[in-house]
Amino acid sequence: MSYRQASYDEPFIGELRSGTTYKIPGKVEPDALMDLPSGSLRKDLPLPEVAEYDVVRHFTRLSQMNYSVDLGMYPLGSCTMKFNPKFADRVSTFEGFSEIHPLQPERSVQGSLRVMYELQEYLKELSDMDAITLQPLAGAHGEYTGILIIRKYHEDRGELDKRTEIIIPDSAHGTNPASAAMGGFDVVEIPSGEKGTVDLEALKAALSERTAAFMITNPNTLGIFEDQITEIAKLVHEAGALLYYDGANFNAIMGVTSPGLMGFDIVHFNLHKTFATPHGGGGPGSGPVAVRGNLKDFLPVPTVGKEGDRYFLDYTHPKTIGQVSSYFGSFNMMLRAWSYITYHGSDGLKENTVNAVLNANYLARKLAGKFKIPYKALKKHELVLSTENTGKRALDLAKYLIDHGVHAPTVYFPLIVHEAMMIEPTESVSKADLDQYADILLKSLDEQETELKKMPRNLSVGRIDEVRAARDLKVRWKLE
Ligand SMILES: Cc1ncc(COP(=O)(O)O)c(C=O)c1O
Repeated sequence: MSYRQASYDEPFIGELRSGTTYKIPGKVEPDALMDLPSGSLRKDLPLPEVAEYDVVRHFTRLSQMNYSVDLGMYPLGSCTMKFNPKFADRVSTFEGFSEIHPLQPERSVQGSLRVMYELQEYLKELSDMDAITLQPLAGAHGEYTGILIIRKYHEDRGELDKRTEIIIPDSAHGTNPASAAMGGFDVVEIPSGEKGTVDLEALKAALSERTAAFMITNPNTLGIFEDQITEIAKLVHEAGALLYYDGANFNAIMGVTSPGLMGFDIVHFNLHKTFATPHGGGGPGSGPVAVRGNLKDFLPVPTVGKEGDRYFLDYTHPKTIGQVSSYFGSFNMMLRAWSYITYHGSDGLKENTVNAVLNANYLARKLAGKFKIPYKALKKHELVLSTENTGKRALDLAKYLIDHGVHAPTVYFPLIVHEAMMIEPTESVSKADLDQYADILLKSLDEQETELKKMPRNLSVGRIDEVRAARDLKVRWKLE
C-alpha cells in the first residue's frame, strides 16, 4: 500500500492570529478582584485570537498528521483499539444528555440516571458481580479504587496491619504494581511458569498471612488464558486474601465467561477499550469497579439506585471509601457503553469476543513461520511474538509498519518477552485487513537494517529521540 501522511508546519494555536480578539463579555466588578493576590492579577491575557474557521482548520490539519482507528487497523496490544461505532458517539451527543448539569435535581434527570442504573446492571451481569461503582475515570483509576476497597476490607476485619502485600505476576501491566504501591501496599512479584501462565508453586510460596490480594488479568498480557484460575482463586481465598481482576482484557471473555465464574472478588472494566469509547490521546476514560456482595459497603458513593420507577443517587454504603471522582464519573463514556451493549445484545457481544479471538489466532498462524511465538497455548484476543529470531529489532519493524500506513503493535511489552510485539487486532477488522497487516509485517523482514533505521519516512514526524523526549520534556509554552 502506498502511503504518505499529511505534513503541515502547524503552529501552536496560541500563535495563530485571525484578526479577531475575544473580549470577555461584561465588566469585571473591582470587588470581585479584591481577594486575589496582586501577583496573580494580569493586565493582559494572551488568549488565542482565532476565528472559528481557523480553529477548525488547525485541528483538522493536526488530525491529518496523525493516525486513528477511523483510518485503519490499530492493533496496539493490551489497548483494544477497536473501531468505535458512530451510533454510540451519536447517542452521547443527544441534547437530553449533553445539556444537563450534574447538580440538577434528580427528578429532572431521571433518563440519565436510568442509563447509569442500567449500565450498572449490565456490567454486573457481564462480570457476575453483585455491586458496582461507575465513578473511576480510567483503568488505572479503577485499579486504585479497587486497591482502596481491599485496604478498607482488611481494615474492617482488623487485619490491615499484617496484610501489607499485594502479589502480582511478572507479566502484569505496569499500572498494577503502581496502583498497589500508591494504595500503600508492598508489591511482591512472582514469575510466570513455562506455559506463560501463573506458576502455582511460586504463588503458593508467595501467599501468606501478609497477603492482602493477588492481582491479575485473564487472559494475561501474553494473550493466554489462565486455565488454573479456579485453583488460584481457592489458594488466594484460603490465605485470607482477595482476588483482583484487571479487566483491560475483557474483550477476550465478554459473554463467554466472567470474572465472577472464575472466582474473582473485584473487577475493573476499561469502558474505553471494550465498550465503544474512543481511546488514547490521554482520555477521557472510564474504569467502573464491580465487587462481590461482601465488598458492597466499601464502594465509593454515590451509586445509582432504583425504587419503584424512580432512580436516585444512593449514598448509603456505610463503610464507603469515599468519592473517587467529581460527581459520578465520565457520563459520556457511560452513554457509549450503554449504547454499545444494548445495540449488540448478549449474543452480539459474545460474537464480538469470538471474532476477536479468531482474528488474533488467524494472525498468529500467518506469522508463526517467520517469527518466534513464545508459549504454545492458544491465543485469546492478542498474540505476543518476538522478533529476536529474525535478527531485527521490534522497534525498527514497528517503524516500518507505520511507514506503510498501518499502526504498529505495542512493542517491548510484556517485559518477559525479548523484542516483543504484542498484536491485538480486535473484532473490528476484516480478513483483508488481517492479510494486509501480515503481508506488510512479513515484508518488513526483507528490508536491510540500515534502511529500517531511516524509517519512518512517510510520516509528518520522523524517528524521534525517545530518551530525550522522555527526559527533556517540554510541558510549558510561552507566548513571545
Ligand atoms: C492490562 C492493562 N491493565 C491496565 C491498564 C490501564 O488502563 P488505563 O490506560 O485506562 O489506565 C491497561 C492499559 O492499557 C492494560 O493494558
